[in-house]
Amino acid sequence: MNTILKNPLGGNLKDAQIKKIEGFVRGFKLSSLTYKRIMQLLHEEMNSGLSKTTNHMADIKMFPTFVRSLPDGTEKGKYLALDLGGTNFRVLMVELNGKDVDIQSKTYLIPQRIMLGTGTQLFDHIADCICKFVNTHDIMGEKLPLGFTFSFPCKQEGLATARLSKWTKGFRCEGVVGEDLCILLHEALKRKGNIDVEVVAIINDAVGTLMSTAHSDRNCEIGLILGTGCNACYMENLEHVGLWDGEIRNPKQVIVNTEWGAFGDNGCLDFIRTEYDRELDTFSINPGKQILEKMISGMYMGEIVRLVLERLTMEGLLFSGVDRECELFVRGRFYTKYVSEIESDHDEFFRNTKQALDELGLEGYSSEDCKIVKYVCTLISARAAFLSAAGLATLINKINKPNMTIAVDGSLYRFHPRFHNLMCLKMKELVRPGLKFQLQLSHDGSGKGAALVAAVATRLRDSKEI
Ligand code: GLC
Repeated sequence: MNTILKNPLGGNLKDAQIKKIEGFVRGFKLSSLTYKRIMQLLHEEMNSGLSKTTNHMADIKMFPTFVRSLPDGTEKGKYLALDLGGTNFRVLMVELNGKDVDIQSKTYLIPQRIMLGTGTQLFDHIADCICKFVNTHDIMGEKLPLGFTFSFPCKQEGLATARLSKWTKGFRCEGVVGEDLCILLHEALKRKGNIDVEVVAIINDAVGTLMSTAHSDRNCEIGLILGTGCNACYMENLEHVGLWDGEIRNPKQVIVNTEWGAFGDNGCLDFIRTEYDRELDTFSINPGKQILEKMISGMYMGEIVRLVLERLTMEGLLFSGVDRECELFVRGRFYTKYVSEIESDHDEFFRNTKQALDELGLEGYSSEDCKIVKYVCTLISARAAFLSAAGLATLINKINKPNMTIAVDGSLYRFHPRFHNLMCLKMKELVRPGLKFQLQLSHDGSGKGAALVAAVATRLRDSKEI
């Protein structure tokens, strides 16, 4: 895959310079054999997560979610939904009426001091937002069933009982790990005094994504998030879930939240990690954790690109004469949205690339510099897409059904111009011959999905099936 020598960096760049640049980015180009090896390791890790005897040692926790029935399109009613997991918090009111879904929502910012503060501050903030929402939507006093999309690893003890197992992404609130989230929410609402909700389900965003697409597509077996974080869930037969403590009755299946972002935490991916991956990890809020997620997701991709650009600049291969005070040298300043924008440039004018570089305070850069920046972006996003493809192919081969839909959501997948195509390309190579799949963009999994889980739960409860 030595495309660089053919074109992306051709033009006025000298062969010697190209060679040197290649030397600094070589680690992002992985062979098919390597992706197959990663699949094998992932498969082993997943099995070890599913088994009761080895789960405590496994990095991939494979949490059974207690979501066992997919929606059948007849769900009805009005639900509240909460969505916490990225930089924002959303409160939604979802009305289901068969295939029709009406969603009203409001987004509230979670300031960083709250993301890194105490659990009480976080849940008080959530309760405040719910209170404002309920007031403006005039639903005070209606005790609506609530589905809570909480996009962090949780050990579920029931559909509405979930304990946080650890924080991921940009969150680290004290006093929440090990606690029952439903109780924390109820206590915060009680402190506000005047709101009564009934939490009927706590779900992960990957699960919401799967449910939302399954509402109209019965072949949907996998939910994938490619956003701030990266995670997947899938429908598994109970007989394969050694961790399952509940009853074995119909339907004999359960959605498993893999939490595969933690793949590699035991060092098994060290053979593919680059010096840039290691540096990013060292300066993150959770060193040594979420190793796969750090190679893929939106929270980190921009920073990996920045580290490479910084290195090339230091080596005199990029931005000659740049001001060392500019923001290219500031951690976290190169946003992942730049990667999507830069890769959307298709001509020699490099409009988006220049805009990003201007925002970083760079001056006097050349077209060759723009080419190099774009090239670095393409390598790092392609590795992320191929790793995601390897993960999905592992699941597809494991599920082993002739035709299945994968529901996908998240800003990286939505906005990156080539992510979908790159994934499909690699998956065709890695999925067992004869198994067909399609990647389907899911709409509002966190809101609609949470309401659907709440609806299925109330339906089953009312019919005394659970
Ligand atoms: C992180 C979380 C996971 C979530 C994912 C996507 O990996 O641990 O629960 O699904 O981000 O938001």
